[in-house]
Amino acid sequence: MENSFKLVSMKTKVLQISEVEEAVTLLRSGNVVAFPTETVYGLAAPIFAPKTIQRIFEVKGRPSDNPLIAHISNFEQLAQIVQEVPPAFNRIAEAFFPGPLTIVMQKHPDVPLIATAGLGTVGVRMPNHPVALELIEALGEPVVAPSANRSGLPSSTEVGHVLDDFDGKIGAVLDGGPCAVGLESTVLSLLDPEHPIILRPGAVTKEQLEGVLEIEVKLASSSLQNATPPSPGMKYRHYAPRAKVRLFSTWEALLAHMETSSCFHKILASDPEACALKDVHELSSKDLFRHFRLADSEGVEEILVLCDSSIKENAALMNRLEKACEINHEEGIESAFCKQDHTRRSL
Ligand code: TXA
Ligand code: MG
Repeated sequence: MENSFKLVSMKTKVLQISEVEEAVTLLRSGNVVAFPTETVYGLAAPIFAPKTIQRIFEVKGRPSDNPLIAHISNFEQLAQIVQEVPPAFNRIAEAFFPGPLTIVMQKHPDVPLIATAGLGTVGVRMPNHPVALELIEALGEPVVAPSANRSGLPSSTEVGHVLDDFDGKIGAVLDGGPCAVGLESTVLSLLDPEHPIILRPGAVTKEQLEGVLEIEVKLASSSLQNATPPSPGMKYRHYAPRAKVRLFSTWEALLAHMETSSCFHKILASDPEACALKDVHELSSKDLFRHFRLADSEGVEEILVLCDSSIKENAALMNRLEKACEINHEEGIESAFCKQDHTRRSL
């Protein structure tokens, strides 16, 4: 007997970079589409399509008070989304756009409040990725996009991560290969032009921003204790794999921990000598989220990170590592880091 029903595939399409037009068609018909940027993959909706934006919040499980970043492909689009462009913006944009930097400014009244989670401000970024720029340009309006991960999980830096979290839940993902930067953009508030403040560290550093602005740029103190954080995202725990993440300042401290723990572990380090050892995986900004996701898929219980000076000097990477630890360190802390400063929170 012939089947009387047709099987409908719930699969998310994987589009090649030559298929941007199809992604645009899907966006125009109300679908969320994931796309590559140089930092991490994003989940896009046209900025003037509140229903599609609502869908982003639903599929991510994102709290409705956490605003989305507006992604532009050219400077003319700014007039549609920003009330007034502060003079400092032009200097910064000239130096860092397109690039891994988001600038928070007063929003244009036309930008739907759902995009900015009710705030009167909007974060704007021009991604440095040809596919992202082509997508926005072909759509003809900015897209809002959070990182393409389910809320609370590590961001996605390759197509497989996006499918792990959203297969069947979004229209398509554009495959741009692995992301070059691997950590989310630096978020800089220019709401008070005299006092620029970094809300989230990223590849564009405080020192680089100060070099261009010629004034001090502060790093916002976090977070979970702060009732009204300057960036809503600061009060949420992010970037955490299921495995416990533990940070160590020295190889000796890490080895001492291993003697006391029978957990299935994975070791990450950036020091070349340590990396040459069997079972030590090389860590860089680009690979952090890949390691986190892989560890979870392998059933790893503890991720042990040897934080040598090159890791400690990388503010964005340390920020993500510390965020990942916040979840885990309620109980006894073996690592030198956590003993030192258990209450310290960074962005
Ligand atoms: O690199 C990135 O920024 C990636 C790619 C896809 O562009 N996007 C990203 O978006 O990381 P998301 O939503 O995962 O993180 C955006 C962060 C959140 O912490 C949010 O609270 C903050 O930026 N943010 C966005 N708009 C803001 C605003 N108007 N004021 C203060 N913080 C804002
Ligand atoms: Mg995110």
